[in-house]
Amino acid sequence: MPVKALFKPFRMGSLELPTRVVMAPMTRSFSPGGVPNAKVIEYYRRRAAAGVGLIITEGTTVDHKASNGYPDVPQFFGEAALAGWTKVVEAVHGEGGKIVPQLWHVGAVRRLGTEPDGSVPAYGPTETLKDGQVVVHGMSMQDIADVIAAFAQAARDAQAIGMDGVEIHGAHGYIVDQFFWAGTNQRTDEYGGDLAHRSRFAIELIQAVRAAVGPDYPIIFRYSQWKQQDYSARLVETPEELGAFLKPLSDAGVDIFHCSTRRFWEPEFEGSDLNLAGWTRKLTGKPTITVGSVGLDGEFLQFMVNTDKVAQPASLENLLKRLNDDEFDLVAVGRALLVDPDWAVKVRDGRESDILPFSRDALGKLE
Ligand SMILES: Cc1cc2nc3c(=O)[nH]c(=O)nc-3n(C[C@H](O)[C@H](O)[C@H](O)COP(=O)(O)O)c2cc1C
Repeated sequence: MPVKALFKPFRMGSLELPTRVVMAPMTRSFSPGGVPNAKVIEYYRRRAAAGVGLIITEGTTVDHKASNGYPDVPQFFGEAALAGWTKVVEAVHGEGGKIVPQLWHVGAVRRLGTEPDGSVPAYGPTETLKDGQVVVHGMSMQDIADVIAAFAQAARDAQAIGMDGVEIHGAHGYIVDQFFWAGTNQRTDEYGGDLAHRSRFAIELIQAVRAAVGPDYPIIFRYSQWKQQDYSARLVETPEELGAFLKPLSDAGVDIFHCSTRRFWEPEFEGSDLNLAGWTRKLTGKPTITVGSVGLDGEFLQFMVNTDKVAQPASLENLLKRLNDDEFDLVAVGRALLVDPDWAVKVRDGRESDILPFSRDALGKLE
């Protein structure tokens, strides 16, 4: 199967990508003080120089006191961090690549003691107490408005520093997904109830981001069925439910849906081979990004629990067939690009046997 489908340019409005290979967002925790430094600049530059058409940065936190959940994660606010990101943008553009930040608020996942102010609890849709102490502060109307405003401001800043668009992190059981999912959203007001009401937070957030950046600036929205709290969780069970879920998000201003799955080849619903990105494209008419074990023989969450495992390079045959069939438009690659910055050019040039395997152990050593 010819690999050229991966190396065709992609165009959507003002966004022109040199290839279909997208670097998946991956938290690296190497930005002390929340500021992307020279190491981070070089890390992204290397991937842009080696055939990656679009870089989606690691999750980068919006300007809210409880947005962060992990040490040394870069922030997307404040003079120093935005100056760091500006240098990242310049380095990626210097290589002919494109880049968007993944805008992130961890919501209820935050633990007491986390940066930047350890006394601030998590903020999430539903209040949670442990031993009489508030560990998740149930968000008030004002909190909701504040977080939405923080995403809008981050998008405005992304545009101002030359980022090529933004990705909103609506997946994996973080704040937006916590509103989507009944398992984490027990609200009884207009932000809770059925999925249509649980989507209200996301819809208002997307609308605010769209209003902040104007009509032509690319907005990517990442969502997933699975949650870090429950890998088998699902927001929808049928194509009809998926269509009803996606329509208001699409109408609110999403340009590209990034459909996060752990194995791209798995059919999303019985009776069709289409994966989540395939169904999303078909139902919304918008371009989609697929992701999940591209080029590797093991999915990513097992590496978080089983540190000894190694994922070996795997055939791209199935992926290329689907891409050729226009099931989806873009292909996000995570671990394979983490461990091997030259993954895309090795694929392009038929040097598959040079591609490096992925192990959890390698993570700590990577730059
Ligand atoms: C080290 C690591 C960090 C990750 N951090 C993020 C993140 O910040 N935001 C996000 O949406 N997904 C994150 N992910 C998930 C990846 O974007 C991707 O969906 C997942 O790794 C599956 O792709 P792969 O099989 O090609 O690695 C992370 C994955 C890894 C391995």
